[in-house]
Amino acid sequence: MHPIRVEGLSLSFPGRDGSSLPVLDNVSFDVGPGEFVSLLGPSGCGKSTLLNIAAGLLAPDAGVMRIGDLVIRAGTSEVPPRVGYVFQSPRLLNWLTVAENINLVLDAAGTPRERWDAVIDHYLGMVGLADFRNKYPLELSGGMQHRVALVRALAIEPQILLMDEPLGALDAITAHRVRQDLVRLWQASKATVLFVTHNIAEAVQLSDRVMLFYDRPTSVYRDVPVPFERPRKTTDPKLLELEAAITEDFFANIIRATAA
Ligand SMILES: Nc1ncnc2c1ncn2[C@@H]1O[C@H](COP(=O)(O)OP(=O)(O)O)[C@@H](O)[C@H]1O
Ligand SMILES: [Mg+2]
Repeated sequence: MHPIRVEGLSLSFPGRDGSSLPVLDNVSFDVGPGEFVSLLGPSGCGKSTLLNIAAGLLAPDAGVMRIGDLVIRAGTSEVPPRVGYVFQSPRLLNWLTVAENINLVLDAAGTPRERWDAVIDHYLGMVGLADFRNKYPLELSGGMQHRVALVRALAIEPQILLMDEPLGALDAITAHRVRQDLVRLWQASKATVLFVTHNIAEAVQLSDRVMLFYDRPTSVYRDVPVPFERPRKTTDPKLLELEAAITEDFFANIIRATAA
């Protein structure tokens, strides 16, 4: 069974003047168990919209989003409980400590209270933040806050992890470090991942497959496998070659298609 099935999703947003803005145009793809799939497309093409449909925050005009056996419908409580969503900014609550931020999601996910401390220590340890559980978010650097946001999403042991450009705001060196943490956490979790990015190198580094999207209204342009074993080195010529090929393809076909 595919943990995520996207079948013919279409969606337009109503414009102010009564017009409509078509965003998704018949988008279909599947994600296999434990797969890490990146969604790569120009800014504004509809990537966040797609994740919001998967999270049950938005309803499509046509098509079906399935998570496991469940058809996701916005506005109902049918959304499966173990979906983690990492937003572009960490969105931590600044008046709560790191541990208290994570407690909130453990509580909501129904994790037994007696396990909270052990779960938090385990995941914070994996990202090098074991000593920071009682700190407040504003006492942490940006990169540390992003690592806490990853821990918060993974602590509920999600079957599905949705990530929307989670490292987009970080400097290159910090992003590199958090990416390594992310790969380790994902491999330990066996979660199925949908990862939105507009960074081609990042998509190639992290993913089992990269879905390339057209500009708006978006549909799947290409489904590119990344068949390289892990751990992967960013400087591996195979990765650089694939990154270059995707970049070239993107600019030759997607950007031109937009201009036409
Ligand atoms: N709630 C909304 N109402 C109207 N337009 C929206 C809304 N959300 C997104 N859009 C528009 O839909 C398009 C796709 O947005 P989004 O999914 O956020 O793109 P991406 O994440 O790929 O950058 C953009 O043009 C955006 O302005
Ligand atoms: Mg977005």
